Amino acid sequence: MKNLYQPNFAKIEKIEALSPSVKLLRLRKRLNFIPAQFVLAGVWGYGEAPFGVASSPYEKRYFDLMIRDVGMVSSAIHSLKKGDEITIRGPYGNGFPLEFLKGKDVVMVSGGCGIPPIASLIEYFIKNRKNFGRIYLLYGAATSEDILIKDKIKQWGKADVKILLTVDKPTSDWQGYTGFVTELIKEIKINPLDAVAAMCGPGPMTSAVEKILRPLGLPDRRIFVSDERKMHCGIGKCQHCTTGDKYVCLDGPVFNYDQIDKNWD
Ligand SMILES: Cc1cc2nc3c(=O)[nH]c(=O)nc-3n(C[C@H](O)[C@H](O)[C@H](O)COP(=O)(O)OP(=O)(O)OC[C@H]3O[C@@H](n4cnc5c(N)ncnc54)[C@H](O)[C@@H]3O)c2cc1C
Ligand code: FES
Repeated sequence: MKNLYQPNFAKIEKIEALSPSVKLLRLRKRLNFIPAQFVLAGVWGYGEAPFGVASSPYEKRYFDLMIRDVGMVSSAIHSLKKGDEITIRGPYGNGFPLEFLKGKDVVMVSGGCGIPPIASLIEYFIKNRKNFGRIYLLYGAATSEDILIKDKIKQWGKADVKILLTVDKPTSDWQGYTGFVTELIKEIKINPLDAVAAMCGPGPMTSAVEKILRPLGLPDRRIFVSDERKMHCGIGKCQHCTTGDKYVCLDGPVFNYDQIDKNWD
């Protein structure tokens, strides 16, 4: 009988510090996935944790994870070196509904380390740019230092993705916005009858929905959220990830905004 918990191994090809607490790991392995699907990545003796895939779904040679050092598993992964191996299960979950998004204006909202699934979605949009209307990324972080993958963001801007960056604590040289300001609305020109939103990162999401997406005229049914709740098994066995009557690992991590339990933990 197949052991569902048996992982594969992936070799670390590159490690890059993206901020004081977040590292990008490039893993030499082919992974077929949809943006917002996740893997269970682990280190022997420390366990596993779910991480969204951050690279292009069209990349066949490797895939990227961006991992914030917050606890047991992420800290063990942060201590690894180039050439070491980590364990991988997956990809799991549903991913963003790419067919439904087709032809529409898209507003993406992300906070801090919620950027990986959005980064992967943007790479997908850029590869299929003519199939989509106007595309916006609203990305907020505590400080400018916490804005990840700045070089990639610049490239996206050149590929017809309108980028709006905000920080909570601006430094004197900061040229973007401060906080999740309603001011951003005037920068966004969409057809609300044919637009969707894609979000990741629980903390600032409620605020973004109330201050930006609802005033833009987007109904909850067209706001897709990748929900990063605690998980263990990733395959519907342990009940750690329930939200209402759904499992984030099986039914999600992407839900309509009106489907999710708003008690973020
Ligand atoms: C679908 C999905 C995708 C995700 N994608 C990403 C991603 O791309 N990048 C990323 O960095 N994260 C991502 N996460 C979040 C990541 O899986 C969690 O942060 C995970 O808990 C990290 O595991 P850990 O063992 O390192 O931390 P944990 O040990 O689980 O700690 C996580 C948090 O719990 C707190 N904590 C730990 N132990 C205790 C305790 N005993 N008492 C009180 N508090 C405690 C820690 O301080 C920390 O804030 C994702 C989660 C999901 C569900
Ligand atoms: S993580 Fe075990 S049921 Fe979802």
